[in-house]
This record gives sequence, structure tokens and C-alpha cells, in this order.
Amino acid sequence: MISKGGFTVREAREEDIEAVIDINKRTLPENYPRFYFKLHLHNFPKAFLVAEMNGEIVGYIMCRVEYDSLYTNPSVVGRKGHIVSLAVLPKARRRGVATALMKKAMEAMKNVYGADEFYLEVRVSNMPAISLYKKLGFKAVKVLQKYYGDGEDAYLMARPA
Ligand code: ACO
Ligand code: ZN
Repeated sequence: MISKGGFTVREAREEDIEAVIDINKRTLPENYPRFYFKLHLHNFPKAFLVAEMNGEIVGYIMCRVEYDSLYTNPSVVGRKGHIVSLAVLPKARRRGVATALMKKAMEAMKNVYGADEFYLEVRVSNMPAISLYKKLGFKAVKVLQKYYGDGEDAYLMARPA
């Protein structure tokens, strides 16, 4: 289905991994080895999505559902849907691609994998991403000091499923 923004969102396939790795390298300092992407695709295929525009992959979201987490509210028991990585190529931004990826991934984490809560970490300086998450109902619940390799802090953001 083509959305009104001119893009489609679908589950990722093994052959999409190279494009996902390329987008990740071009847009984020947090890069992962190929097996890490493959592991998430294998374990949570319904919550690993790509966005296509004119036949080109322009964005992805990679998630996992955890039974316990070091970071989130320990009084909330249950499964936590962790948004591990999300990115959209600059030329495809501000058209709702990330919003669509987030909504579909959260739906899958809840309905397919039984998540009760969603959470993610984001750089405290990453205003575009923080705005996106706030718009989707996430709240900053904690600051994770020096979370990133370069010493920057992260906000732990979460919302109920
Ligand atoms: N400035 C201010 N607000 C913004 C911006 C911006 N540059 N970008 C998005 N937003 C907010 C706006 O409220 C926007 O709604 P609007 O366009 O109606 O004003 C809303 O978020 C939704 O925007 P989308 O179009 O859905 O987001 P987009 O497809 O442009 O992707 C993203 C946003 C993923 C943050 C993109 O800018 C990106 O890839 N950045 C680099 C990688 C990155 O930071 N990824 C997130 C890291 S955290 C993690 O992965 C868990
Ligand atoms: Zn994380």
C-alpha cells in the first residue's frame, strides 16, 4: 500500500540488510556488525521494517522484545518492546516515514510479541528524534549518563503499549 507521503512500509527481508546497514552508517554514529542486524531480523521479523520510496529503501526500524530490562521502571512487569535503531535518509525526511515505521513496529511488538511497554534510548541533543517520540506519546523517564561511546548522555524514553 502506498501512503499519501509516496512511500510504503513493509517487513524487511534478508536481501534488504545491505541497504539497512548503508542507511545506518550514513545517518547514525551507532553502527553494528551484520550479524546483529540479521539476529534481529531472524528473531523479530514482524518488527524489523523498511520504508521504500520509488523502489529504494529510504528508512528502517529494528526492534526486539525483552522480558527484562536494566533500564525501565522495575515496577512495570512484563514484556518490553525495545526500539533498537531507527533512521530515515535525509532526502526522505519530514514526510511521515519514521512515524509510519514506529507505528507499525509498535503494533507488531504489541500484537505479535506481546509487548506491554515500549522504550528506547536517544541522544539528549537529538531534537528531531526526541520531538518525533514525544509526538508518539513517549516520555523521558531517565537520563543515562555517558550512555554513548563519545560520552553523550541518553534519555531513556518510554510509553505504555
Ligand atoms: N526538527 C523538528 N522536529 C522534527 C524533525 C526536525 N528535523 N524531524 C522530525 N520531527 C518531528 C516533527 O514533529 C515531525 O512532524 P511534522 O513533520 O509534522 O512537524 C515528527 O517528528 C514526525 O516526523 P517524520 O517525518 O515521521 O520523521 P522522519 O521520517 O523525518 O524521521 C528521524 C525522523 C528518524 C529522527 C530522522 O530525522 C533521522 O533518521 N535522523 C537521523 C537518525 C536518528 O537520529 N535516528 C533516531 C536515533 S534514536 C533510536 O534509533 C532509538
Ligand atoms: Zn537501545
